[in-house]
Amino acid sequence: MCGIVAYIGHREAYPILIKGLKRLEYRGYDSAGIALLNGNLNIYKCKGKVADLENIVAGKNITGSLGMGHTRWATHGEPNDTNSHPHISQSGDIAIIHNGIIENYATLKEELSQRGHEFTSDTDTEVLAHLIEDIKNNTHTSLEEAVRLALHEVIGAYAIVIISKNDPTKLIGARKGSPLVVGIGDNEYFMASDATPIIEYTRNVTYLNDGEIAFIKDGKLSIKTIQNVEKTPYIEKLEMNLETIEKGGYEHFMLKEIHEQPRSIYDSLRGRFDPINCTFAMRSLKEFETKIKNLKRIIIVGCGTSWHAGLVGEYLFEDIARIPVEVEYASEFRYRNPVINEDDLVIAISQSGETADTLAAIELAKEKGATIFGLCNVVGSSIPRASHAGAYTHAGPEIGVASTKAFTAQVAVLTLWAFGFAHLRGKASKQDLRNAFAELEAIPAKVEKTLEREAQIIEIAKLFSETNNALYLGRGYGFPVALEGALKLKEISYIHAEGYPAAEMKHGPIALIDEAMPVVVIATKSSIYEKVISNIQEVKARKGKIIAIVTEGDNKVRKMADYVIEIPETKEYLEPLVATIPLQLLSYYVAIQRGCNVDQPRNLAKSVTVE
Ligand code: M6R
Repeated sequence: MCGIVAYIGHREAYPILIKGLKRLEYRGYDSAGIALLNGNLNIYKCKGKVADLENIVAGKNITGSLGMGHTRWATHGEPNDTNSHPHISQSGDIAIIHNGIIENYATLKEELSQRGHEFTSDTDTEVLAHLIEDIKNNTHTSLEEAVRLALHEVIGAYAIVIISKNDPTKLIGARKGSPLVVGIGDNEYFMASDATPIIEYTRNVTYLNDGEIAFIKDGKLSIKTIQNVEKTPYIEKLEMNLETIEKGGYEHFMLKEIHEQPRSIYDSLRGRFDPINCTFAMRSLKEFETKIKNLKRIIIVGCGTSWHAGLVGEYLFEDIARIPVEVEYASEFRYRNPVINEDDLVIAISQSGETADTLAAIELAKEKGATIFGLCNVVGSSIPRASHAGAYTHAGPEIGVASTKAFTAQVAVLTLWAFGFAHLRGKASKQDLRNAFAELEAIPAKVEKTLEREAQIIEIAKLFSETNNALYLGRGYGFPVALEGALKLKEISYIHAEGYPAAEMKHGPIALIDEAMPVVVIATKSSIYEKVISNIQEVKARKGKIIAIVTEGDNKVRKMADYVIEIPETKEYLEPLVATIPLQLLSYYVAIQRGCNVDQPRNLAKSVTVE
């Protein structure tokens, strides 16, 4: 987590850094800070958001065409002014910003303390600033060499940027496990955690690989590995649009992103199948045809909402392609000595493509010889780069911390893969594909229609905004939807919510139900519709308040439920794409009623690059 941005060039750095930090604030918002070099090294930092930082710097010297900024999600040391980045070395000459965790910082700190270093913060990052200076002074070497040598001693994950009062023409960045992109402009350079702070200024970027250090010195960029091997920068063109990272008239990114789903689902499907000839245009299916035909098992790894998409994936692959699937929390998978075989396919799902646990899970699976498919949204991020193949979701930048359009885009691509795998393994005929493609093509319009329920959902949200608890129930494809609905509610409105398989309720959670408990039930027309109705009866008998998501025209559930939200009919396997939408809107409007900051919920960050 944490967002970092830096600039060196001919412009004033401050406005670029502040704007960049605002775009990166989704990565963490415990504190913010900035360092500017203009003969002096001026550092301003504080607990709070970027807006608080702006207040702090008002009236201060903010000149300088070399500088860097940081927005923090606290790991080591509580969020306070002192622990905010940038951090400085013993002499105060070297400043550093960091995203990640230096695991051996305590040992390094102890050694440096014995050599007379004094630390002011509780952070791991400050130790690195001291270490670089210590090496520089003791070996009489350049700043860049000192950084390289210091990184040899570091265990952990980092994206760092370093500037020094004594080297006003140098900007140094390095990465291992946390992202860092370098923007190359006209006599100017940028560094950032992602490309959003850069796109207004240049489209030319290079993504650093793990273990690489970028040196900008006297207007020139060079890249080296920590082992001192020169690398030629691979320059890519950014395809992102500025409009996609702005709110576009919506009050919050989350609301904008919910409303973007007809488009993001369409974009994630577009060009990937030919409905006339019933063929796929997905490189993963073509290049890994033999693998797919022979694989014995799929393991899906992810975290949070991406894990929920993975659960939908399990149902899809087993239902449609008849392939055994296991869905794993990446954080558990990597530490529980799992059995992984060479004929397994591991699908890693991640919006950001940077989630540390998911990345580590695929590294483990790769070591054991499994094939890895990445399913990610952020182009050029670490997981796709570490995968053998995969697909991007084309949902566009997702900035709200609560994942919405990424989920439906992930499910859309998983559906395509399930049918693609099924066809290659003789489980889906051309006619099956024709039917599925037609159904998929109809989904964006069905999502659009579901969004028209917004006014009704606002009214329901008003009624339940004071609740302390909520239950979400679903069966079959409705179960992952229930889990996702509960997660959305708890993360942005701080209401305790549980997602459950509807039938499992009677094995415990039913004890929670009384007249104050809102119970959201996915009760669409599916093969288990009648079973869900029985579960609704069980809730009803205990006076729970039922909010049911039903298929248009349903009047059976309507008679039992307190509130119904209709969604268009679709194939059962496509229901998560439509049924999730009202739950996203419900959580959004409940959170708004409660005055919560929906785009930046407490304690969270968009990109979880620490274990
Ligand atoms: O970037 P990823 O998809 O790997 O992120 C995984 C989770 O951190 C993420 O889905 C998280 O649970 C969201 N806040 C959910 O809305």
